[in-house]
Amino acid sequence: MTLISRAESNIGDYLERRRTFNWKDAESHFTWAQTGQVNMAYECIDRHVQEGYGDKTALIYLPEHTEDEQDRLQTVSFTFADLKRETDRYATVLKKHGMQKGDRVFVFLPKTPECYFAILGAIKAGAIVGPLFEAFMEAAVKDRMQDCEARFLITDTDLQHRVPYAELPHLEKVFVLGPDDARLPHTYALNQALAEVEVNDEPIEWLDLEDGMIIHYTSGSTGKPKGVLHAHRAMIHHHITGKWVLDLKEDDIYWCTSHPGWVTGSSYGIFAPWLNRAPIVVNTGRFDAHEWYRTLEELKVTVWYSAPTAFRMIMSLGDEVAHRYNLHHLRHILSVGEPLNPEVVEWAQRVWQKRVHDTWWMTETGGLLIVNLPSEEIKPGSMGRAFPGIEVAILDEEGRALPAKHVGQLAVRKGWPGLMKTIWNNEEKYQSYFPYDEWYVSGDLAYKDNEGYVFFQGRGDDMINASGERIGPFEVESKLIEHPAVAEAGVIGKPDPTRGEIVKAFIVLREGYTHSESLLADIRHFVKTKLAAHAAPREIEVIKELPKTRISGKIMRRVLKAWELNEDPGDLTALQIEKKESE
Ligand code: WT7
Repeated sequence: MTLISRAESNIGDYLERRRTFNWKDAESHFTWAQTGQVNMAYECIDRHVQEGYGDKTALIYLPEHTEDEQDRLQTVSFTFADLKRETDRYATVLKKHGMQKGDRVFVFLPKTPECYFAILGAIKAGAIVGPLFEAFMEAAVKDRMQDCEARFLITDTDLQHRVPYAELPHLEKVFVLGPDDARLPHTYALNQALAEVEVNDEPIEWLDLEDGMIIHYTSGSTGKPKGVLHAHRAMIHHHITGKWVLDLKEDDIYWCTSHPGWVTGSSYGIFAPWLNRAPIVVNTGRFDAHEWYRTLEELKVTVWYSAPTAFRMIMSLGDEVAHRYNLHHLRHILSVGEPLNPEVVEWAQRVWQKRVHDTWWMTETGGLLIVNLPSEEIKPGSMGRAFPGIEVAILDEEGRALPAKHVGQLAVRKGWPGLMKTIWNNEEKYQSYFPYDEWYVSGDLAYKDNEGYVFFQGRGDDMINASGERIGPFEVESKLIEHPAVAEAGVIGKPDPTRGEIVKAFIVLREGYTHSESLLADIRHFVKTKLAAHAAPREIEVIKELPKTRISGKIMRRVLKAWELNEDPGDLTALQIEKKESE
């Protein structure tokens, strides 16, 4: 694919950087070696004000708006000085209300400026912040806040209704944004609390690089979501990858489309751009391909980080629509979260004359590890090569490195600064990522070519990836069987041309219930409103019996998947079952 000049990109020549880079050098950007002062919020905000950039735009907010094509998009901007003032106030409110260093402060807000103020304010005060995706329903909120014993919550008058207060004994104080008469009685009005405080003392809590900073819950193939805890040291990783992979420069307008409840929305939606002093675009509302085109054009976005499902939906509007929008400001596009089809890369090249740079990482890895760089060749279908300072290997079952072009377990040598600190309250789970000691094992399957380009081949477990969102089948199954009509459930990811995968459930009905479209719609609605919309099965199939292992009675999702794909389910001696349709 076409290259841009190496001189123009921040990273320059990849192979040269691989030879010379080490993580210690990346630390020299920070001042803590002289001052001993560590805090992510300081590096993202206060430092820029101190260094004379207080007037520089930091956040461009695009509220929900009408679809009237005549309107110009109206935005509201905040400078770094505004951010300092706001986060100082949020931090002071939390401290005044008794927040101690390391307390878990959850933020459950839509993508509004307040969501960003609250996250950075909590970090400034020394909290471990837990941002929640705005589509979470009661069960998802409960599992997360209960697990790490959240003490504080910042939310709004709409979302407060999804917080099961009675089941959260550790939750002491809830601050609510929005009209006061809509607030539940045992909560505090956030705006009033903010107006009341006076920021006298420096509200920043100085911390250690190893102190906890942010917790993101993520799903695996078994059990409830796990709390992945990241430490302040991750900023070393975020800063350098923001500079070299996002290629951020002073005058960029950067748009990461993810919500801060997901790790992409925090690591690369907040930290990486602000550490690099680049302004971010914050949009609300649901995905709409036309609206996104408008946002790119009218806000003159220069660097855009999004996901394959969005690119595929935009691509499906066709070439004619693409030519209606002027994207000449857009100079760098990146993708993450699910396999990026070569067709998308080729389409963007042909129609937009722009390259799409795939990147690979995970909630647990904290930052980008496998990357396509602006200065290097793109091989469509490949996620790119290891970031400088990162060693990627493909391992066999014994943990031995495989040669090029052999599919195996995608692993990374441990020790980079963004790697999670632990899994909350679950040391055993944390250790399970390191079965061969020195390697972090991702759960993905992949191969490398002779030049080190990595090609994704699938997951080694039952985890589902729908539109780039990671969904644990166990969570969905558990919710399904809470429905009165469902006796048993097995959930898989079914390949889908637009969304990558969709959630498909196989269910067995309880005695007395009969199969009907309205029953299935009701079951789907049940999961959607109790767990989360993105986790609700798009397809439900009623069967007579689920395939289970004979001894332990575990649901064999592998067999369900084979049935779905009309493939041979392999060795079935462990169970004795054939697919029985319900009549
Ligand atoms: C899983 C991690 C932190 C990024 C957002 C998702 C899949 C991620 C790619 C890619 C193919 C990808 C993997 C990975 N994935 N990036 N470029 N190509 N698959 O983070 O929710 O923790 O999910 O997403 O399967 O293990 P996550």
